[in-house]
Amino acid sequence: KGDHGILTAMVGMDELDRSNLPRHVAIIMDGNGRWAKRRGLKRVLGHHKGADAVHEIVTATRDLGIPWLTLYAFSEENWQRPQQEIQALMGLLGRFLKKERQEMLDNGIRLSAIGRIDKLPETTRRELLETMSATSVNHDMVLTLALSYGGRQEIVDAARALALQVQSGSLRPEDFTEEVFSRFLYIPAMPDPDLLIRTSGEYRISNFLLWQIAYSELYITPILWPDFDRREYHRAIREYQQRERRFGNTGAAG
Ligand code: FPP
Repeated sequence: KGDHGILTAMVGMDELDRSNLPRHVAIIMDGNGRWAKRRGLKRVLGHHKGADAVHEIVTATRDLGIPWLTLYAFSEENWQRPQQEIQALMGLLGRFLKKERQEMLDNGIRLSAIGRIDKLPETTRRELLETMSATSVNHDMVLTLALSYGGRQEIVDAARALALQVQSGSLRPEDFTEEVFSRFLYIPAMPDPDLLIRTSGEYRISNFLLWQIAYSELYITPILWPDFDRREYHRAIREYQQRERRFGNTGAAG
């Protein structure tokens, strides 16, 4: 942990306004394949470098004291990729979870997951559940991996749970509010992301956290995910800090 602190200071931490950090950062990690292709490497090597970037960004988030980080690691749509790539990604994910477990424990990081976890291969799911349960007592930071995740799916699942409550008579339709609805999302306690980052330059949401990003600041960078390091991350946060968040208001003082 100490080493990371020194590194943080070197990369210009002082330029970040400590009093105006996002509480929740969500990231669409895109560009692993392109990163590899540009180097004449196999796509899976891009994912390996991508996992290293995940480690760096998780550490940087913890160092800054940002309490919530959510990473889009595998979408519902990603199941359509070639079997070989899916297997490589799932294997990588399982090994990552096992390897990082101790470090999460040492740094007060709680792992959580959103998405159709039941669709993951057995070994990956086991490592996921083990790391989640081992880290469940931590409370300094919540790292959420979106796995087999779809934003519309999450909304449909919430709507179904709500409908069941109406059917059983414990909730009346006229009592539905945004606040009530959000209690049926996968992680009710999760605050909405303040900052949504997408790497590798595409201007899309790709079915990520649709409900939660209503007022998030969007930051899209051409940097490919394996190249997204602490310096780029701080750049994104610095830009976030320069934005004026109005939440639909006028921004006029008073
Ligand atoms: C996008 O790159 C990335 C993914 C589909 C998965 C993200 C996975 C990782 C960053 C590595 C493992 C994750 C963890 C949590 C250890 P892409 O293949 O879509 O790139 P492309 O658009 O250039 O083809």
